[in-house]
Amino acid sequence: PPLSLIYNLHDFEFVARHAMDKIGWAYYSSGCDDEITLRENHLSYQRVLFKPRILRDVTEVNTSTTMLGTKTSCPFYITATALGKLGHEDGEKVLTRQAARQDVIQMIPTLASCSFDEIVDVKHPLQTQWFQLYVNQDKQVTKELVQHAEKRGVTALFITVDAPQLGRREKDMRSKDFEDLSHVQDENDNSIDRSQGAARAISSFIDTGLTWELIKWFRLITKMKILLKGVQCVEDVLMAVEHGVDGVVLSNHGGRQLEYSPSPIEVLAEVVPILKQRGDYEKLEIYIDGGVRRATDVLKAICLGAKGVGIGRPFLYAMSTYGDDGVYKAIQILKDEMIMNMRLLGVNTIDQLNELYIDTRRMNRC
Ligand code: FNR
Repeated sequence: PPLSLIYNLHDFEFVARHAMDKIGWAYYSSGCDDEITLRENHLSYQRVLFKPRILRDVTEVNTSTTMLGTKTSCPFYITATALGKLGHEDGEKVLTRQAARQDVIQMIPTLASCSFDEIVDVKHPLQTQWFQLYVNQDKQVTKELVQHAEKRGVTALFITVDAPQLGRREKDMRSKDFEDLSHVQDENDNSIDRSQGAARAISSFIDTGLTWELIKWFRLITKMKILLKGVQCVEDVLMAVEHGVDGVVLSNHGGRQLEYSPSPIEVLAEVVPILKQRGDYEKLEIYIDGGVRRATDVLKAICLGAKGVGIGRPFLYAMSTYGDDGVYKAIQILKDEMIMNMRLLGVNTIDQLNELYIDTRRMNRC
């Protein structure tokens, strides 16, 4: 269908399911095991309701905010998703271009299809990019990668901590008839095991021995902000505070890692009051990702104390089906939804959002 018939982010997924080739669709859409956590990421948002306020002047509405010290047009960012070329020949560069046009932050994945430099080369001078890091067993490789990212203007490092081994994504494994992994920049070519799907094939270099000591080491090698991506419980958020990280992403990797991991919006609702009570809330920024498809989801997360929200698959689907125009439209749809929903909620700016606009009673009953 023409792009003009796309009304929301779900529509991109519907078109992608029918239009994408089997391998790309399997890799992008899959979750781990029985996809319970994948579904729960969506369902959990349905248990959070709003408490809208009336009779306020909502003529002017502004969606802009600050994330990690950077001004940006809205409180969501394009999160890191590997293998962009499974969906579009220009891969991650499509996302970079449209992030620039829309003033949205992009997180570059370690396992991008395009090389890191190709992606940074197409960025606008004023555009902000973050870098998602899979820590290589070879510390020297990691160090070079990180220092190169910093030199090229990346402002924050998101260390993925929920993937010492990649989860079983069986849809992806079933499409193991994939011929070549030339989409992938991988130094460990000869260790590729083609029977395990695209995801597992490319991840064998990831260090399984990481501990909290890691943070000290990263502070020595870089001045970038350091965040942990894939924190999944209150205890680990408190550990993260103790270790002085700049932020965490509450995330279960889009339901692709540990089945029965909790959904991030629920962890968020639990952790923020505890941080506030301990006086720790101002010490770091909290982000969440997984299952966000509507501006209402974004707004719920902000009300519950997130600084921003990552969105993954919708942009991949938009890119794979309509290329640059699709990604532009996906962001525009979210921004339009943001403005309308802020008005209906009775707020003018992002910093007015707080827990008073939210009703979590249904959440607690499940
Ligand atoms: C991911 N994600 C991910 N995360 C990461 O830290 N490194 C990576 O290489 C990837 N790769 C990746 C590929 C694909 C196809 C998907 C769908 C996801 C996880 C990603 O950053 C994020 O946590 C989720 O995608 C968020 O969920 P939604 O928005 O896709 O529902």
